[in-house]
Amino acid sequence: MDRNDVPAYPVGLRLSGRRVVVLGGGQVAQRRLPSLVAAGADIVLISPSATPSVEAMADAGELRWERRGYRAGDLDGAWYVVVATGDAEANAAASEEAEARRVWCVRSDDADAATAWTPATGRSEGVTVAVLTGRDPRRSAAVRDAVVEGLRDGTLIAPRHRGRTAGVALVGGGPGDPDLITVRGRRLLAEADVVIADRLGPRDLLDELPPHVEVIDAAKIPYGRAMAQEAINAALIEHAKAGKAVVRLKGGDPFVFGRGMEEAEALAEAGIPCEVVPGISSSISVPGAAGIPVTHRGVAHEFTVVSGHVAPDDPRSLVDWGALAKLRGTLVMLMAVERVGAIAAALIEHGRGADTPVAVIQEGTTAAQRRVDATLATVGQVVTEEAIRPPAVIVVGEVVAVGRGIRR
Ligand SMILES: C[S@@+](CC[C@H](N)C(=O)[O-])C[C@H]1O[C@@H](n2cnc3c(N)ncnc32)[C@H](O)[C@@H]1O
Repeated sequence: MDRNDVPAYPVGLRLSGRRVVVLGGGQVAQRRLPSLVAAGADIVLISPSATPSVEAMADAGELRWERRGYRAGDLDGAWYVVVATGDAEANAAASEEAEARRVWCVRSDDADAATAWTPATGRSEGVTVAVLTGRDPRRSAAVRDAVVEGLRDGTLIAPRHRGRTAGVALVGGGPGDPDLITVRGRRLLAEADVVIADRLGPRDLLDELPPHVEVIDAAKIPYGRAMAQEAINAALIEHAKAGKAVVRLKGGDPFVFGRGMEEAEALAEAGIPCEVVPGISSSISVPGAAGIPVTHRGVAHEFTVVSGHVAPDDPRSLVDWGALAKLRGTLVMLMAVERVGAIAAALIEHGRGADTPVAVIQEGTTAAQRRVDATLATVGQVVTEEAIRPPAVIVVGEVVAVGRGIRR
């Protein structure tokens, strides 16, 4: 059998503090050096020139750069060598020296002459993926990408068995479209034993969970309404104490009107580890999905996110609607559908123009997304006439009129 048809023997080299020689400072070196630096190798780069990125690594002290061509004896003391100069003769000579000294040698110009091949590699959460396919580097890269992607987003289910800590992850699920959760959130979801989910957020992802995962609907946890948060905290603590990996899946971002910190505090009090995974908040993404930028050059230099869950004249309100009415920028209101008429009236009374454009976006980023436009003067009536229901984001300001031509 041809030596090149025999599969390579995969191994993980522990190069920390060990001398590695890289010959050539071009594109190949630029691609290989970061992993060698990450592996803690004692790198000597031998090359008359280098790309700006390689030069920056030398400037940062990540490697020693000898500005010259290869000379016999350069591999003295090396454990591993990357031969990647543009000079075929130098490459061949270095390769011969490596063979004579029994130093594993990769060659960028001639894979058949090399004694080692570089796999396509990637990392996700402590797992290194290395793929060799013989002579098809593009296929190696494609397999690597598929595996790393799958590990990152949890579609490749490979639960940890060692080093896994029971605890709770407060995961921001984004506004509703299952593709808008973070990669980390999706992976934690795939590794969970118990998921306690809100009504808002990427509910579709729950269907993908394996059958052994216990999914608890936070809205259905028994107890009176006022007790609901305490009941959720108690459920999180109970399951985590039972040694389960618990995900508390929340809509948008856990800390934007999401009571995330109340849950984090309750867990801290109970001595349970808690990881917070930020999410894409509906306050920005829902306007964006409806074609409204919350800021726009020359139009709005600020945006303010406000909860409209209590009316302006309610003594529990912490919002200074008079001050907000004086701002020129964008006002984004959450939980405001039921009280938008009263809120709009308060804004007009305190000086915001009655003709200020307003958009109401219901169930943004989902298949049921719907946008209706109004002004501050008409929004109360429009919301009633159009039978708008929560969840909806209400945007007030000139940005509503921006991008009408590309409105989705
Ligand atoms: C309790 S708050 C939670 C906000 C969430 N933590 C966030 O960052 O998006 C719920 C409100 O968010 C808004 N909301 C969340 N998802 C939405 C969506 N997909 N479409 C429209 N509004 C949404 C609505 O105003 C809803 O009443």
